[in-house]
Amino acid sequence: MLTRLRNKIFERVNGTEGVRIPGDLVGVEHFHKLYAHPAATGRSRGAGLSDLFWYWLAPGPEVHQEHLEPGFRYDEVARCTRRFLAKPLRDSEKLAAEVAGRVLDEHPVRLRLVRLRDEMMPIWAEFYYELVFGTPCPRRARDLIVANAEDVVGSLKCTRLRHMDRRRALTSYLRGRNPVVPLPASLTPDEQVFWLQGTFFNTAVVQSSEAMAHLLLALAQQPDTQRRVRDEPELLDEVISETMWRWPLFGIAHRITSAEIKVDEGVTLPAGSVLLFDYVAFQSASRQNHIPFGVTANRPCPAKGIVPPTMRAVAREVLARYELSSTAAHERPLPNRGPCLLQPRDAVRPARMALAYLRVRDRFEDLTRGIVQLVLGTAMVLHARKLRLAERYFETHDSQGRPL
Ligand code: HEM
Repeated sequence: MLTRLRNKIFERVNGTEGVRIPGDLVGVEHFHKLYAHPAATGRSRGAGLSDLFWYWLAPGPEVHQEHLEPGFRYDEVARCTRRFLAKPLRDSEKLAAEVAGRVLDEHPVRLRLVRLRDEMMPIWAEFYYELVFGTPCPRRARDLIVANAEDVVGSLKCTRLRHMDRRRALTSYLRGRNPVVPLPASLTPDEQVFWLQGTFFNTAVVQSSEAMAHLLLALAQQPDTQRRVRDEPELLDEVISETMWRWPLFGIAHRITSAEIKVDEGVTLPAGSVLLFDYVAFQSASRQNHIPFGVTANRPCPAKGIVPPTMRAVAREVLARYELSSTAAHERPLPNRGPCLLQPRDAVRPARMALAYLRVRDRFEDLTRGIVQLVLGTAMVLHARKLRLAERYFETHDSQGRPL
C-alpha cells in the first residue's frame, strides 16, 4: 500500500507520461523490435522524468553515459568506457578474486550478521579503482567511493536523502588523478571527472554490489544450490544468469523517440514519445525473455562482458570462507540490502536463533522503511521538480552539450 501511495505521489508531482511496454497499447511481442528501433535512442531531452534521474545521479548527470543524447559526444564517451573495460577477462577475474580475498580477510571468519550489499561495496570500489587507475585502491579512496555509491543507491531507492557533500568529496579526490586510458577529449576537465565518477564509481559499484547481493541472497536461501556450486563452481554462471532473470537490476529503462514509429496496424507512436521498457513484465512473460544487459542494438550495458566472470570470482571467494543463510525477504529493489548470516564453513550448529531474529527484524524494518520511503521519496521528487536540472540544461544547451 505504501509503495502504491508513493508511486501515486510521484505521478501526481511529475505527471504521468510514457508508454509502458508491454502494456495496453503495445504488447510483449513488440518489446524487442521497439527497443531495437533506430528511432528509440533519445535519453534525456523531452522527458519530465529526466529531472528526477538527473537529480539522483548528480553531480554531472549531463555527461553520464546513460543520459547522453545520441551523437558524437555519446560515441566518444561510449568508446572510452569500452577501452577501460577491455581488459583480458582472465586478468579481470584474477583481479576480482584478489581484491575480494583481501577485503573479506579484513574480518576474522566468524559468525556475522551482515547486509550483503554493504559487504560487497568495498570490494567493487577497490576493483574499479584499480581497473581505472592501475594501482591498488588506498583506504581513503575506497571510503569515498563507498560513501558516494551508498548515497546514490540509497536515494534512488528513497531510503535516504541525497547528500551532495559526500558525492563532491569524491569528485575532489578524483580531480587531477591519472587513469590508465585517456579521458574523452571533447569533455572539459570538470566533465571528465564527473564522467569517471558517474560510470565507474557510481554505476559500476552500485550495479555490481546489487547484482552480487541478489546472487548471494539467492544462494543463502537455497542451501542445496549453494552446496552444488561449491562442488561444481562452473554452475555459477547458470546461477548468475538465473538470478538476473528473476531479479533484474533494471525495473524500467526508458527511451525518447526521435521520429514516428509504426508498431502495428492502428498503433503509431509519435516522435517525442517516452517509451518505458518494463523488464520485470517482459521477463515474467517467458523464460526465453532474458535481457540482463539490455538489447545489443540500442545502448546495451558496456560491462556485459566483464560482469559475469568477475561476479563468479567474487562469489567463489565468499563461498570458500562462509556458509550463507537468510530468512529475509528477497525483493527485486532489495531495499533491505540483503540481510544474511555468515557462518564459518566448519560451523557445527545451524544458528537458528540468529535466523529467527533476522526474520523478525526484517519484517519490522519493512514496515518502518515503507513510511521512510514515502516521506523521503516525496521530498526528493519535490526538490527535483524545483531544481529542474535536465529541463534547465536543455534550455541553454543543444543535444550535444553546445551552449545555445
Ligand atoms: C552488474 C551487473 C550489471 C547489470 C545487470 C547491468 C545492466 C544494464 C542494463 C540492462 C543496461 C541498459 C539499460 C537501458 O537499456 O537503458 C545498462 C546500461 C549501462 N550500464 Fe550496466 N549493468 C551492470 C553493471 C555495469 C557496470 C559494472 C558498469 C560500468 C563499468 C555499467 C555501465 C553501464 C552504462 C554506462 C550503461 C549505459 C549504456 C548506454 O546508454 O550507452 N553497468 N546496464
